[in-house]
Amino acid sequence: MRIALIQNRPLFGEVEKNLNRLFELIELVDADLYVLPELCFSGYQFLSVGEARSVAVDPDGAVVGWFRQMARDRNASIAFGYPELAPCGCYNAAMVVTPDGRDLRYRKSHLFYREKEFFLPGDSGFNIIEWCGMRIGLAVCFDWYFPESFRTLALKGADIIAHCSNLVMPYCQQADFARALENRVYIATANRIGTEERDGEKLTFTGGSVLVSPRGEYLLTLPKDAEAAEAAVIDLNLAREKRINRYNDIVADRRPELYGR
Ligand code: ACM
Repeated sequence: MRIALIQNRPLFGEVEKNLNRLFELIELVDADLYVLPELCFSGYQFLSVGEARSVAVDPDGAVVGWFRQMARDRNASIAFGYPELAPCGCYNAAMVVTPDGRDLRYRKSHLFYREKEFFLPGDSGFNIIEWCGMRIGLAVCFDWYFPESFRTLALKGADIIAHCSNLVMPYCQQADFARALENRVYIATANRIGTEERDGEKLTFTGGSVLVSPRGEYLLTLPKDAEAAEAAVIDLNLAREKRINRYNDIVADRRPELYGR
């Protein structure tokens, strides 16, 4: 299976331009699964719920339909983050669309910083979708800070976690080493680049998207400040083998009765 990381520099609020650029980047590389950043076509730093809603889209609507069409055209699954329009507000959401017309929907569980002002707390829980024998889990950016997120996906059988991100702190790309090892899963953190300055506050996104193997190998590391599209091959068997020697199986050896809450 070939996994592609797509790293873009979205222009705040320029939905159509950003979508066109994302589709150009996707076409640069062949893969079975493309992983795109969080809020990949809207920009990040909203100033009001109304502003977030103005670029948010219906998961069954036209914009998501373009991702579905791209998935069909390339016979590949696509994971992407987007602002989801809901009757009572807006979710920071992500979706995997498959070439056969199915999808996995996710709403970000752990909202970061001012996202709490503009997005509803995610209520989807952590789930996986299987395509072409590959079990894909979804998470969004700050979810990485909570080990339970990736652990839950691993215990549900994920081979790979598509981690759509807009990282502003420098730690996640390194922390993925531990998350991948402790769960023996592949982690695909697709991050954005660029800077947004709104209402006197400047956020710089850290790029450096990574694909990490269940052995902690960095199969891909993208540049810190350039758009990029790169792919690498993964071996699903490596994610399915939870034994690390004759005595230890990192799932079977867990002692949940000792862990408390
Ligand atoms: C983040 O969760 N976008 C940092």
